[in-house]
Amino acid sequence: MQNYARPPYKIKMVEPISLISKEERIQRLKEAGYNPFRLRSEDVYIDLLTDSGTGAMSHFQWAAMMQGDEAYAGSRSFFHLEKVFKEISGYKYVIPAHQGRGAEQVVIPELITKDNMYFISNYHFDTTRAHVEIAGARAIDCVVEECFETEKYYPFKGNFDIEKLEEIINEKGKENIAGIIMTITNNSAGGQPVSMKNMKSVAKIAKKYGIRLLIDGARYAENSYLIKLREEEYHNKSVREIAKETLQLADIFLMSSKKDGLVNIGGLIGIKNDFKFYQQCQTAIVPKEGFPTYGGLAGRDMEALAVGLKEALDESYLAYRIDEVKYLGDLLRDAGIPIQYPTGGHAVFVDCGAIVPHIPYDQFPAQAVCNALYIEGGIRPVEIGSLLLGRDPDTRENLKASKEFMRLTIPRRTYTFEHLKYVADCLINVYKNRNQIKGLRFAYESPILRHFTAQFEVVE
Ligand code: F0G
Repeated sequence: MQNYARPPYKIKMVEPISLISKEERIQRLKEAGYNPFRLRSEDVYIDLLTDSGTGAMSHFQWAAMMQGDEAYAGSRSFFHLEKVFKEISGYKYVIPAHQGRGAEQVVIPELITKDNMYFISNYHFDTTRAHVEIAGARAIDCVVEECFETEKYYPFKGNFDIEKLEEIINEKGKENIAGIIMTITNNSAGGQPVSMKNMKSVAKIAKKYGIRLLIDGARYAENSYLIKLREEEYHNKSVREIAKETLQLADIFLMSSKKDGLVNIGGLIGIKNDFKFYQQCQTAIVPKEGFPTYGGLAGRDMEALAVGLKEALDESYLAYRIDEVKYLGDLLRDAGIPIQYPTGGHAVFVDCGAIVPHIPYDQFPAQAVCNALYIEGGIRPVEIGSLLLGRDPDTRENLKASKEFMRLTIPRRTYTFEHLKYVADCLINVYKNRNQIKGLRFAYESPILRHFTAQFEVVE
């Protein structure tokens, strides 16, 4: 344990959890149609579905909630949140939203000024892609090749492919690019960080072509910490300084605050200095999220977020957080289990294509491993592979993902190293019996976002 950071907090409130019997787990999973999304959380022992809104708040946050000002307009809690965000970012304007996708549904349509426009991102998160498409534009991903070489060490697997970015702009025409979105950390590729050097190059290109640069900053604090660890020039800078430098590169900041805001609900829109665009968003948010000084949040939620934003930049908190993920990754790698390496910010991504190569992609290898892990230990992971990717809209064929990942997502300040050791032990058992894992076929499939509601049968 000397190799990992010390816990920077003690636990003063607990939520009991229990492990139902193996027979019950087998039964519950069958009733859920072999889809962990359909399980009740009471039937889950360790819940690694997401790090979104699942973290533990500090006693400072709970105390702040008592001071929430529940005014429809001009809430004191809004001004508290605004002050904190302005200090962190150096931005002029901030508008709260109920969560990340709330911020997206306000901002993205405002950037689309004509037909046939594109957004380019290192990797669009699902809801970001959905909002781009709903608003009539297309989403293009542009991540470095190293991102898919899971076994190979590369410090910044979330980076943009800079050459390709410029090629895409020239091919599509700069006037047809509605925005460039830097997703930090790069969730879909394994919580992988983007380096400052890379972000600066992207900002330079955005400026050269006159394209707006957005940050999807759900995990911007973790990205800043990973820059401090892995980018030589930044070893001696504080995470606060790195975060500010990062945010200053962009014109617009979108955030699901359910991650690095350390709250259970909340989102943010930050606008660096474009007053006209700020006015546009102020108008657009009213029918979608609410009046611009609450954006779908209660005053108490804004108070909790104001405190959480500061706590998430605390370096002893981040050291422990990042080391928890590393610890789980190290245990799995030591047992020979293939993962996205090195681990990044919020999750360990297990390469299931390599664990169950006997299961074809359209029988969803990673989903099958997720189910095996639930049966083994009551642990609920999530599939990030061909099930999530869906079908080709024209041919209706199942698309094949570049990687069949199982994401073991670690909620903030919620589980200890002991919980994670248990997770590793269970997965090692699953790995030993991997040849017995069977594929899945649909018993029910919804036309869009199928992974949430799909039901399956086991292919015998
Ligand atoms: N952007 C990124 C990078 C995300 O990871 C998420 C959510 C969102 C935007 C949307 O935010 O959920 O607050 O509306 N990610 C969660 C996850 C759901 O499990 O990875 P939201």
